[in-house]
Amino acid sequence: MMLLAQNLKKSFDDRELFSEISLSIPEGKKIAITGRSGSGKTTLLNILGLIESSDEGKLQIEGNLVDQNSNKVRNQKIGFIFQFHYLNPDLTVFENLELPRLIQGKRLTRQEALELLKKVHLEDKLEAPAKILSGGQKQRVAFARALVNQPKLILADEPTGQLDPSMALEMMGILTSLPQAVVLVTHDRQFAMKMEERYELENQRLVAW
Ligand SMILES: Nc1ncnc2c1ncn2[C@@H]1O[C@H](COP(=O)(O)OP(=O)(O)OP(=O)(O)O)[C@@H](O)[C@H]1O
Ligand SMILES: [Mg+2]
Repeated sequence: MMLLAQNLKKSFDDRELFSEISLSIPEGKKIAITGRSGSGKTTLLNILGLIESSDEGKLQIEGNLVDQNSNKVRNQKIGFIFQFHYLNPDLTVFENLELPRLIQGKRLTRQEALELLKKVHLEDKLEAPAKILSGGQKQRVAFARALVNQPKLILADEPTGQLDPSMALEMMGILTSLPQAVVLVTHDRQFAMKMEERYELENQRLVAW
């Protein structure tokens, strides 16, 4: 099992966001999570991605119990596409792509960066400062960046939110054909239908649909 979450619970200020959440993600599995705004999808993704910790519950990655704030495991095993892209605006596209590699003490070659950018049709933006890109272009760079360290699990939080319909469809095509396991948070039920399993976060629980 790539990732096993057992009995996760999270509250903010005494308000329970969710509890009793368990999820098994085999290698390569494509999973969608839907739910109304504020239901806790981003928080759940952050917990699965070792960015936030849960109040209760356990996470195992590849059979090993993980510390919920392990930056090292996150950097090696997980690629994140954030809801609000989070590129560093003062760095170029290449420098943004290289960041996850530098954290491992390694470099990214320009050739590798170009190959990733080709996937998202931005090979002409290699040296552009991130701040001059449009919202959708930033989202596509963030998409490419999630693949830099060839993680086993991609967590994608509304990765098509700022893309036009044809580009959104194309990015969905890339996501569903990746060898990696993918957890996609989306409001788009048609995109959710393209994944192998679907869950809705509702009434504090994760329910298959
Ligand atoms: N650090 C925090 N401290 C307190 N409350 C928080 C914190 N992070 C999130 N919340 C609250 O938890 C709830 C769920 O937030 P979350 O971002 O997980 O929702 P979401 O399902 O991703 O929503 P959306 O679809 O709008 O992105 C919200 O009410 C939010 O205000
Ligand atoms: Mg969210």
